[in-house]
Amino acid sequence: MAEVWHDESAGVWLLEMPASCYAFGLAGDGTAIRHLHWGPRSQLAAIAGLAGEARAEPSSWERYRTWAAELPDEYVPWGGIRYDEPTLKADYPDGTRGVVLSFTGHRLTPLPAGMTLEVDLADPAYDLLATLHYRIYHGFDVLERWVTLRNDGPGPVHVRQALSANWWLPTRRDWRLRYLHGGWGAETQLAEANLVPGKLVLESRRGTTSHEFNPWFTLDADGAATEESGQVWSGELAWSGSWKLVYELTAAGRVHVCGGWNDFDAVYQLAPGEELTTPPFAALYTSGGFGAASREWHRWQLAHVLGRGDRTSMLTRPAWAPADEPESGAEQAAVSQLRPVLYNSWEATAFAVSHAGQERLAELAAELGIECFVVDDGWFRGRQNDRAGLGDWTVDRDKFPAGLTPLIKRVTDLGMRFGLWVEPEMVNPDSDLYREHPDWAYHFAGRTRSLHRNQQILNLARPDVAEWVFGTLDTLLTEHDIRFVKWDMNRHFSEPGWPEAAGRNPERIWVDHVRHLYAILDALRAAHPGVEFESCSGGGGRVDLGILGRVEQVWTSDNTDAWDRVLIQHGFSQAYTPQVMMAWVTDNPNWLTRRRLPLRFQFHSAMAGSLGIGADLNAWTATERAEAVELIAEYKAIRPVIQQGGLYRLASVGGAPFQANQYLAGDGSELVVLGWWGPAQCGSGLHRLRLAGLDPAATYRDASAGQEHQGGALMHEGLQLPTGIGNDFGSMLVRLTRL
Ligand code: GLA
Repeated sequence: MAEVWHDESAGVWLLEMPASCYAFGLAGDGTAIRHLHWGPRSQLAAIAGLAGEARAEPSSWERYRTWAAELPDEYVPWGGIRYDEPTLKADYPDGTRGVVLSFTGHRLTPLPAGMTLEVDLADPAYDLLATLHYRIYHGFDVLERWVTLRNDGPGPVHVRQALSANWWLPTRRDWRLRYLHGGWGAETQLAEANLVPGKLVLESRRGTTSHEFNPWFTLDADGAATEESGQVWSGELAWSGSWKLVYELTAAGRVHVCGGWNDFDAVYQLAPGEELTTPPFAALYTSGGFGAASREWHRWQLAHVLGRGDRTSMLTRPAWAPADEPESGAEQAAVSQLRPVLYNSWEATAFAVSHAGQERLAELAAELGIECFVVDDGWFRGRQNDRAGLGDWTVDRDKFPAGLTPLIKRVTDLGMRFGLWVEPEMVNPDSDLYREHPDWAYHFAGRTRSLHRNQQILNLARPDVAEWVFGTLDTLLTEHDIRFVKWDMNRHFSEPGWPEAAGRNPERIWVDHVRHLYAILDALRAAHPGVEFESCSGGGGRVDLGILGRVEQVWTSDNTDAWDRVLIQHGFSQAYTPQVMMAWVTDNPNWLTRRRLPLRFQFHSAMAGSLGIGADLNAWTATERAEAVELIAEYKAIRPVIQQGGLYRLASVGGAPFQANQYLAGDGSELVVLGWWGPAQCGSGLHRLRLAGLDPAATYRDASAGQEHQGGALMHEGLQLPTGIGNDFGSMLVRLTRL
């Protein structure tokens, strides 16, 4: 059970989760809210004791010394004697450029799936209210935090920085940060750094989540955590626009992490009576190492994030959106749907799509056991290449003379769902939309509009543009039996101007673009509940908890080389569930790396997440097709364990060019081991692979070899492996069932 305890006399709140707890309390004269504990479970009485020690306010002399100025406030407005990273910075109409917040009250709200605690703070001199939200879930160690600001004053307030949360870590000596970085074709590479005095800022200024950094982290101290054990604190931000995470080791020797919207170039003008809600920043604590941290993220995402819509009412419903909004995560508790095996023709055909060509691919795909057939880029008017067409979302009648309907019918008759690619936030200058509305794209009046992939970005912050995007897609989905949409975004922001809004806070585009994107997706999902969505951004450029609330899956990377993918997927799995991680088997040699890999290796690599095929099926031999039929059937049999089981990363590339994942069914009855060898090196072979999370006393049978193993032996001695020599790009799939 998730429970919130409040000791009124001690002025303490304790958020209790299954294996962890989080606590804060009133300090000073009862107006400040100060962090007390985040870690293993603790009793309210122990926390109240801590609160007593923390209550004393520093003297003026102590304040003078830097350390005392950095008290662990739950939310830090810039306004008094404080020099660490603030979470809030705002200006008032009279020119006062600082905020002072005092505690005014709190509310506890039980939810079917958890509990919310809201703490109200106010700047009484200016009637600015800040509500700190905390949400916990029954059965999970994840705590979500966000903030709502409300301007009750008579004039506008300019918010220059409004981060979602400030997380204080306990006092330890050496902190290690792990994070995900990369670039196009090489997303989610796992990196680590030791925190040193000062700040480390990881961010996106690109208007979207980015390939370069992903808003996820783990922190562990004194080298104590491993994949299998040790204390780990981890966080993830639910925002698909520019963001920043600041990791600061203060002069007082304390580490805090704060994050949310990027304040770079950002100002949000709050009119009298207006509210601003920041995106949720979720975090968890575990003593089970990096593996337990990622398993907890995966479990929680499946139960409470995927496709669950607007989780914090970040936006009041726009007039054009249908009334029945999806329920928020904590109100539902169903497990999300398994992902279908998908075919996508992008690598096979690029822009050269046609009715006959797609129909042939659909027939071949159906024979393999594909469940969802997706037509990618190239289907709409003017789209012969990437230089034209974006914005004109009507079918190209030269390629599809009778429209898409006959193809959709054929695909549906073949027993598959029909899916379509769109890139609705974009426009090519060579399009009717741009010729009619050049002002709809972001631009600065006196500057050249930089093109990237020959396209510009539509100003979705404009209500008329957002309404047009919704209307265009709503029509497309109403007129066709489309059941899956791949929503792409192939460039990042430049010249983010809105000249017509000069003097009226055009900088709000950084926030409003994404809020409107979310509103459009929420509205489309409400109007077309049978349609599933994939988030793509030139590969994995838009993967985060915010977009995951609106889609069923994401495109992991445009790099479909199955060996490179083993590494990309290793990083991805730290933060996000394998269920959303789309991986395709594509042509040989790979289009990007020119590497040739065995078909079986490609399948085993793609089976680590949600399986898809992206190859030109016309070129496959009968033997390849037969192998694919067998492997796709095998994938369907193990799919529930892969997509919704517990993931244990057994071995990762480092010492040996070998990596393996184990997936364990929720009830422990079944497990799958996938292993991949890279180019082998003499002497570096791994001989045995130790499994994890099994019942030591139980017997497990190998489904294909028929061999039996004791759980204890599998975890202690491990499975026997080939030496690795001569096994370049070999792979393994072992299925064990508990007897
Ligand atoms: C991006 C996507 C690809 C494909 C192309 C189409 O690069 O990541 O999967 O959809 O756009 O132009």
